[in-house]
Amino acid sequence: MSNSCEKAYITTPIYYVNDIAHIGHAYTTIIADTLARYSRLAGLETFFLTGTDEHGQKIEEAAKKRGESTQAYADKISATFKDLWDDFDISYDKFIRTTDADHMKGVQKAFSTMHANGDIYKDTYKGHYCISCETFFPEIQLVDGEFCPECGKSTSVVEEESYFFKLSAYEDKLLAWYNDTPDCILPRSKKNEVIRFVEGGLQDLSITRTSFDWGVKLPAEMNDPKHVMYVWLDALMNYVTALGYGTDDANMDYWPARVQLIGKDILRFHAIYWPAFLMSLGLPLPKHIAAHGWWTRDGEKMSKSKGNVVNPKEVADAYGLDNFRYFMLREVPFGGDGDFSQKALIDRINSDLGNDLGNLLNRVIGMSGKYFDGKVESSNVAKYYQAELDEVHASLDKLEPLLYEMQIHRYLEELWRPLTVANRAIDKYEPWNLMKNGKEEEAMALNGLISAILAKVSIMLYPVMPAVCTKIANALHFNINADSFEKIAKGTELLSPFTLTKIDPLFPRIEEPLLTQIEPADKPSKSAGDDKKKSVAKSKESNETEGVALIGIDQFFQTSLKVGTVIEAQEVPKSKKLLLLQVDVGEAEPRQIVAGIKEWYAAEDMLNTQVCVVANLKPAKLMGMISQGMLLAAKDEDGLCMIRPEKPKTAGTPIG
Ligand code: MSP
Repeated sequence: MSNSCEKAYITTPIYYVNDIAHIGHAYTTIIADTLARYSRLAGLETFFLTGTDEHGQKIEEAAKKRGESTQAYADKISATFKDLWDDFDISYDKFIRTTDADHMKGVQKAFSTMHANGDIYKDTYKGHYCISCETFFPEIQLVDGEFCPECGKSTSVVEEESYFFKLSAYEDKLLAWYNDTPDCILPRSKKNEVIRFVEGGLQDLSITRTSFDWGVKLPAEMNDPKHVMYVWLDALMNYVTALGYGTDDANMDYWPARVQLIGKDILRFHAIYWPAFLMSLGLPLPKHIAAHGWWTRDGEKMSKSKGNVVNPKEVADAYGLDNFRYFMLREVPFGGDGDFSQKALIDRINSDLGNDLGNLLNRVIGMSGKYFDGKVESSNVAKYYQAELDEVHASLDKLEPLLYEMQIHRYLEELWRPLTVANRAIDKYEPWNLMKNGKEEEAMALNGLISAILAKVSIMLYPVMPAVCTKIANALHFNINADSFEKIAKGTELLSPFTLTKIDPLFPRIEEPLLTQIEPADKPSKSAGDDKKKSVAKSKESNETEGVALIGIDQFFQTSLKVGTVIEAQEVPKSKKLLLLQVDVGEAEPRQIVAGIKEWYAAEDMLNTQVCVVANLKPAKLMGMISQGMLLAAKDEDGLCMIRPEKPKTAGTPIG
């Protein structure tokens, strides 16, 4: 292993073994796999880690419920994750389990080091514990004094002797890290949430438990056998124990991680606890922690009890693994929430993949077969089509920064521009007429142009769709590797002469949903507008003045109106009407609101402004994105304007 080569360490969270994988888990893993594949193509020495999180009360109880030993149960479920990733050809370099002996040794070493550094002390803990989230919550955060603010399940009061980590001592250092490293947490709006939380004050963290057994024991020198480690301390340490921390340090030169991919639900653990632990251990902090949004089904959290869980294997088997990968990464802006539907998946396959990419390959196969016996030759491409080449290279140049900023949906959007250039060139230059008019050289150059564009696009698309792009590369007789990445995709090289191999269409058109059993839940959910119509109609039956339905004050107060501050605003690609906003309404997390105001407001005009939000609407789905509220606006023949508080008000202030 040469030391001169830049290293890239990419991690997924490690998955709990209390349940089998669903599309949320697949999403995290597929993004990480895409980053790892890109990083290898870009010539970085890459290490990609995934694995399973197997300790804690939740797992112990899940095993007990099934009448199995905890270890046997953990072995079984861990294997289902590993098998799924193998089936999905996930290019991980190591699959770690928190029950691995090396990992447990590393966690003990970390405990000893933190203790030696004066960051761990013993005390008594009294608090409310949610087993499902494996988290303590202060009473003030509980819903109705009892229920977990994260998952809604009942919490239990725990009073026990515990070791504490001095998290409060790291407040200033954490804030300095957030301020000094702009992209340490991506998207940046998520970083603001973390900063607000830390500024609110940090309490020391209970990091051991005595009420159950299934965990890593404290290091022998602590001489305190009744304690096991808190699962989050155990689990977070996996990112360095996987590299040999606490044992042989074999791969510690990969640390710090380049990207640690997580879902937004576990941001606090990764953006607060994890860097504080690392500081205590004297280890450098990760370069980026990237938090993606949440996938729902019809606007609802997926859960076995609701029977609305989408099985990633079923979807990939029915629609094609690479198509599924493309869909997940293209459909939702990174950081935003998305709703799974077969209709949206089919639209992406038929339109982006079938019409734009697949047809282009068919066209070049047809063209070269008909006029040139399948031969493609590029020597005159620049002579006739320099403008098209320039346009393509300009788009390709924009890609890498987008990926490194985790704007994967925009990466894919930009990557589609060269395909438009190619399709447009065929329509404009009409190869059949070129041939008719004896312009054979020009027609062959067009063949070369289209093939080169397909090659360049498939290299850059490879990290997202590895199998499909390998097929395209085989048809065009070149290899996707670090060399072609450098010369053809990042550079301006075209393809050496070759004879095209005909292949079957890559994206046969899909006319109707292929998975009938998951379809019923996919029916378009009633829009918020329908609900409004219905309630107006109902009140009309009872009360009406001059055509306006009258309601009682209690009905009015059923609507929760709040002042919101727009903390992030962006355009929804391909939509003339929609903006995607993150609006702070004084809750733990901002609301994602999709607003049909783009005709009147640019995204930057909305940023940092205040709005009035209808905060208790059922979530609705617009262009595949969940909208968790509605903005008040007034519209007449002159256009639309937002209704805003006259003076700045704290986000979350009730209106009424
Ligand atoms: N074991 C912890 C992580 C420890 S990391 C040191 C855990 N496990 S989990 O299995 O519950 O979730 C793992 C990942 O899956 C998280 O990033 C989470 O955000 C992601 N997803 C689980 N359900 C999801 C959706 N419905 N949608 C998108 N991702 C979600 O948390």
